Amino acid sequence: MDRRSFLSSGLLTLCTGILPPSSIAQQNFVRTYYLNSGSGTGYFMGAPYPRSSLWCYNNRLPGPEIRAKQGETLQIHVSNALDQATTLHCHGIRLPNSMDGVPGLTQQAIENGESYIYEFDLPDAGTYWYHPHFNSSEQIGRGLYGALIIEEAEPIQIDRELVMILDDWRLDEEFQIQDNFSNRHDKSHAGRIGNTITVNGRITPKFEINSGERLRIRLINASNARTFVLDFSSIDARVIAIDGHPVSPHQPDDGLVILAAAMRMDLVIDMMAEPNTQIIVNDQAYGNERPEVFKLSYSDKPAIRTEPLDSAIALAANSMPEPDLNNAVKQHIELAGGAMGGMRRAKINDQWQSIRELAAQGMMWAMNERVGVGHSMEPIMTLKRGQTCKLILTNNSVFDHPMHLHGHAFRVLSRNGQPDPFQTWQDTVMVWSNESVEIAFVADNPGDWMFHCHVLEHQVSGMSSIIHVV
Ligand code: C2O
Ligand code: CU
Repeated sequence: MDRRSFLSSGLLTLCTGILPPSSIAQQNFVRTYYLNSGSGTGYFMGAPYPRSSLWCYNNRLPGPEIRAKQGETLQIHVSNALDQATTLHCHGIRLPNSMDGVPGLTQQAIENGESYIYEFDLPDAGTYWYHPHFNSSEQIGRGLYGALIIEEAEPIQIDRELVMILDDWRLDEEFQIQDNFSNRHDKSHAGRIGNTITVNGRITPKFEINSGERLRIRLINASNARTFVLDFSSIDARVIAIDGHPVSPHQPDDGLVILAAAMRMDLVIDMMAEPNTQIIVNDQAYGNERPEVFKLSYSDKPAIRTEPLDSAIALAANSMPEPDLNNAVKQHIELAGGAMGGMRRAKINDQWQSIRELAAQGMMWAMNERVGVGHSMEPIMTLKRGQTCKLILTNNSVFDHPMHLHGHAFRVLSRNGQPDPFQTWQDTVMVWSNESVEIAFVADNPGDWMFHCHVLEHQVSGMSSIIHVV
């Protein structure tokens, strides 16, 4: 800060007498972005294939990449040209509750023709994404999302960065999006699984690289429900971050990168094969189909180096509040419901109802026998600010649930009693069918925070709750 701005902010303090000293000290650089949500069109395949009608930001799929540096302030102006309300949720960012973008809970929805300004500081580096939190299954499912990249203060050395937003779509023969969003079957089963996979809005795109390069790939799963199991076994990929947060670099088990809905993963790969070769990464999540997801295609340029770079690939940790497990508040949360799930009844708005009655209202899921309706409901638990909370999530259904907590990141402690080898920080954790997962976090961010399944059709049909931090 130069002398003049120091003086003027000092004067301002004298005059008003209400600015706390921190607001003078923290004059972060402000990055400003403009997002207009509306309808548009895009090519999944490129001409001569037909264009598809989408809902998207700034008429682009994915929406514009938002990029800032750790410690900066982000300002996002959202204007809404959809013929329904919307909001913007910056998934995974630890931000003030009022900026969280949950309609009816943290703000009023942004109606057609209205706009809203989000502004918050960026405490953590990492790979995040943004999406609406209103009618999410349809709005995200029609293309409203984009990458949100927060660069490290001290980045690692790489030659090329590729941001890949994965999605799947349910298209008809004319490449148009089928509009059977949130139908009864999707809600009660595995959610809206598509028939067409895209990366950055394109089917099996090819990314050109040069031999010898060190790549950083930032994977984001923006699909409504799909889990990706990407086969990297033919290349030496190392995971360096999960949900934005650094993890000690390691090879994925069997070369398979598992990415549940809403999760992110950062990989570093030294591309050491010969020029003119090609690698196809496919998805093994759903049986023998193994669709091709993307290609890494070596150019004909001679190798830029013949030995992999030997600089370190470990990222500096974000400064996270460490859970105090000895003094944790423990809470069991049972995830139940869905087809073949055996749930008999649950409470909806404090009334017990049979599964039949619930299903008649389109509700299929419960957390601790409570069906979450919409975005505003009684909290499932209340925590004092600074308290450590240990959640034991037990999935008593036959489907998998990627559970997402707003406003915080948690450590994954164990799965079915087995300690997680990396104790990773995540904001979304997959709880597989019949699994029990323990997570812990410090409730350091006051407000009402959604804790819900990120299979969007499960979220809307009951697998939704609020954790209240006072
Ligand atoms: Cu990615 Cu509650 O959302
Ligand atoms: Cu679910």
